[in-house]
Amino acid sequence: MKILVIGSGGREHALAWKLAQSPRVRRVYLAPGNGGTSGNRAFQNIALQDFEDLVQYARDEQIHMTVVGPEAPLAAGIVDTFRAAGLRIFGPTRAAAQLEWSKDFAKAFMARHAIPTAAYRSFTDAEEAHAYVRLRGAPIVVKADGLAAGKGVVVAQSVEQAHGAIAAMLGHRNLGAAGARVVVEDFLEGEEASFIVLCDGRNTLALATAQDHKRLLDGDRGPNTGGMGAYSPAPVVTPAMHARVLREIIDPTIAGMAAEGIEYTGFLYAGLMIGNDGQPRTLEFNCRLGDPETQPIMMRLKSDLLDLLECAVDANLGRAVAQWDRRPALGVVIAAHGYPEQPRQGDVISALPPDAEDSVVFHAGTRLVDGQLVTSGGRVLCVTALGENLKSARRRAYESVAQVHFAGAQFRTDIGNRALRASQ
Ligand code: AMP
Ligand code: GLY
Repeated sequence: MKILVIGSGGREHALAWKLAQSPRVRRVYLAPGNGGTSGNRAFQNIALQDFEDLVQYARDEQIHMTVVGPEAPLAAGIVDTFRAAGLRIFGPTRAAAQLEWSKDFAKAFMARHAIPTAAYRSFTDAEEAHAYVRLRGAPIVVKADGLAAGKGVVVAQSVEQAHGAIAAMLGHRNLGAAGARVVVEDFLEGEEASFIVLCDGRNTLALATAQDHKRLLDGDRGPNTGGMGAYSPAPVVTPAMHARVLREIIDPTIAGMAAEGIEYTGFLYAGLMIGNDGQPRTLEFNCRLGDPETQPIMMRLKSDLLDLLECAVDANLGRAVAQWDRRPALGVVIAAHGYPEQPRQGDVISALPPDAEDSVVFHAGTRLVDGQLVTSGGRVLCVTALGENLKSARRRAYESVAQVHFAGAQFRTDIGNRALRASQ
């Protein structure tokens, strides 16, 4: 069987790596893929982007199923296009992906269905937004309604900072149409976790939990990034908390979408803040897997991923079970010089450690140029390892990180610290 994966990041490499392990899968095609998925027996990169071209390719090559990694093609309706052509694809439709591409939609939806989240209001008028900030005080959070590639959230510690964010988004339109409407919401305290499920429209199957590290520098300092590392499981999600998240957040979301006539199929990612009062609240929904959470999650998945995705596409998830490696996994992102503002490209990557049962280097911003691997994006690699416990997974991952070389490489040295501290 042939499978097509849309995207080019570490998440997509991990998905393709896992799918290629299915005895039924002959080859995984990636559009466009990266340096880790080219020139290899298991994978083939294809340089197509246009949805109609991809549909034609999937038909010509008799692709059994297409799996979509990033949010942009989902928001642009790739699932609608493939389905209209009678092709099998796993992901939410454009309407269902609204949970991610409109924060205003997601917040109003959560209010309609009593799903716990921070109190908020939405604005298109800057003066009204400024007045609301004056009323609520700081800390407070300003979010662009639309997709902004990780730049749409400002956690303002002062009212001045919140006013600045509103002026930039609504006044100067620094994020374009994505910031033409803003959500202003209360600041929530607690511990974050990523809770991701597979959905078939009615039923869900929870994946292993994970936690990522959004800031660039050790100690959660520096600018926000797409994620500098992740580990699975997230100890903050105890079995009791797991049941509660399903009951209070995931189930009502899937049921609410169905009740509103928008069936949700695909991965659904709830970014959670678990308060000191023990209440989980939704910070955001993503309509896709997280990156880099996917890398440790896929390393722990023992079941055949194709089987699970087929159950989801066939509305048959009710009977599916996923087996997980009881060993924790931890991934360290190695980013390019200048990331996140202005990542430099073209640095030569040498000396990658060979993959092993308990250690895999997933590629993201890499490219093969004349047989040489070079950097081609912000997050370059995610070195991921399994261990008997989190500490040994971390030791193993950093052993591999130490073997990777390219000019200007940046990585955090404290991935997993919070969980390790909590367990001591
Ligand atoms: P989002 O893209 O909505 O997940 O926001 C990015 C990051 O901003 C989250 O991972 C949190 O660290 C932080 N954040 C978002 N909303 C809030 C909130 N209401 N209170 C505190 N932190 C938040
Ligand atoms: N790691 C966070 C995300 O993928 O949105």
